[in-house]
Amino acid sequence: MSEHSANPSATAATGRPRAVKAVIPAAGLATRFLPATKAVPKELLPVVDRPVLQYIVEEATQAGINDVLLITGRGKTSMVDHFDRRPDLEAKLEEKGDTERLAAVQRPSELAEIYTCRQPEQLGLGHAVGYAESHVGDQPFAVLLGDEFVKMDEPLLPAMLELQARTGGVVLAFFEVDPADTKRYGIASVEPAEPEFSDIAEVVKVTGLVEKPKPEEAPSNLAVLGRYVLPGKIFDAIRRTEPGSGGEIQLTDAMEILRNEGTPVHAIVYRGTRYDTGMPLGYLQTVVQIAAEREDLGPEFRKWLVEFVNSDASAGPGR
Ligand code: UTP
Repeated sequence: MSEHSANPSATAATGRPRAVKAVIPAAGLATRFLPATKAVPKELLPVVDRPVLQYIVEEATQAGINDVLLITGRGKTSMVDHFDRRPDLEAKLEEKGDTERLAAVQRPSELAEIYTCRQPEQLGLGHAVGYAESHVGDQPFAVLLGDEFVKMDEPLLPAMLELQARTGGVVLAFFEVDPADTKRYGIASVEPAEPEFSDIAEVVKVTGLVEKPKPEEAPSNLAVLGRYVLPGKIFDAIRRTEPGSGGEIQLTDAMEILRNEGTPVHAIVYRGTRYDTGMPLGYLQTVVQIAAEREDLGPEFRKWLVEFVNSDASAGPGR
């Protein structure tokens, strides 16, 4: 994947501006992670020593976006506190001369300008994104789902922002799944993209999306990843979207309205590492991978992990 300079004021070859704002819808009920998420937002679950949401905001800022709108809901306002200053704690750490922890505590508040708004009822992802309209206006913007992120040194967002500035349309991201697993994801039907975008990354043109198809009915094995770059006209499409699957206002349906009206829809096929923290298995895999790669913890953790995997204890119940 090609890397692009992360300059928020950069304009692409077409003269269209790149998106400079991100929206993180994080008002969902997180039922797949209950009961942990009964009182703690899943976006605040720690991956080693940082909440998931910090990795996501870092992904946005690394792509040159420093204006982030968090869509929150009931019981989820603690997410916002993580990006606030903590003068009492900072003073204590300063007193102790613990400069490392002081920097770690200050970092989230220095990452980006964080704005919030509330989705009063959880009526779907499209409905949640609709609340961003007054903050975003008619400009393009990125949407980053709050339970998924990609590896820092294999970025995805810069290429998506560049592609959206060139097409002016909707830009999605896909990752390849095992064909037997299509029923867990939104799956795309695609055709080759125009050659003019081939310098950006692996780009495809999207001809349709199917929600959780059986393997024999799936049009491909390309699954939707939780990153979108959308034009401002998505808000009008959301207003015209009827409740769909599960009675929710689906973002996919709003994007389909735009596609049917002639808005180009493209996607980048992401071949880097994606972490899915929205359910226990993916979360555990994320924690292990990131801990194993950390310079400070990695060597000791990897040594323990190898011993554990080779021990009887790792064989599971019945051993
Ligand atoms: P999910 O489908 O993952 O739903 O939503 P969820 O509630 O987070 O989790 P499960 O499936 O019940 O375990 C995708 C994203 O959209 C947000 C969620 O917070 C998540 O980041 N969302 C979803 C909203 O903000 N509002 C909604 O009404 C629905």
